[in-house]
Amino acid sequence: MALERTFSIIKPDAVRRNLIGKIVTKFEEAGLTPIALKKIHMTRAQAEGFYAVHKERPFFGELVEQMIASPVVVQVLEGEGAILKNREVMGATNPANAAEGTIRKEFALSIGENSVHGSDAPETAAEEIKYFFSDEELVG
Ligand code: CMP
Repeated sequence: MALERTFSIIKPDAVRRNLIGKIVTKFEEAGLTPIALKKIHMTRAQAEGFYAVHKERPFFGELVEQMIASPVVVQVLEGEGAILKNREVMGATNPANAAEGTIRKEFALSIGENSVHGSDAPETAAEEIKYFFSDEELVG
């Protein structure tokens, strides 16, 4: 397995409930190291651009509103096979389908307010990291 970097968001529903530490611990315990991490309040333009791939989906408007309602934590996770591992630690998008012990099973409120986002492939990981971080901020 190769050392990879992936992009992760701790979403507003989780930040509001003071779950940053518990969620970062789940990643660290799985061998994923946050090499860059910051708390930001996304603008509407940032959220719409980030989720542009979903703009025709019926949930797009609600998704954007949820993502800009209050601050998020954006981070870059590094580790062996980080892209797939991150998705395993997060669990299924819909918490009703998420496996025991995953972040979404433990913390998500609904399919929309599902506590975390993670890149789904190497290309999206590279794009999403670049969307929020400069090279200088990656201090792995
Ligand atoms: P995320 O991994 O951030 O990618 C897109 C987000 O859209 C997803 O998590 C959910 O928060 C949200 N969403 C809301 N409804 C749906 C749905 N029916 N299917 C997929 N994603 C949804």
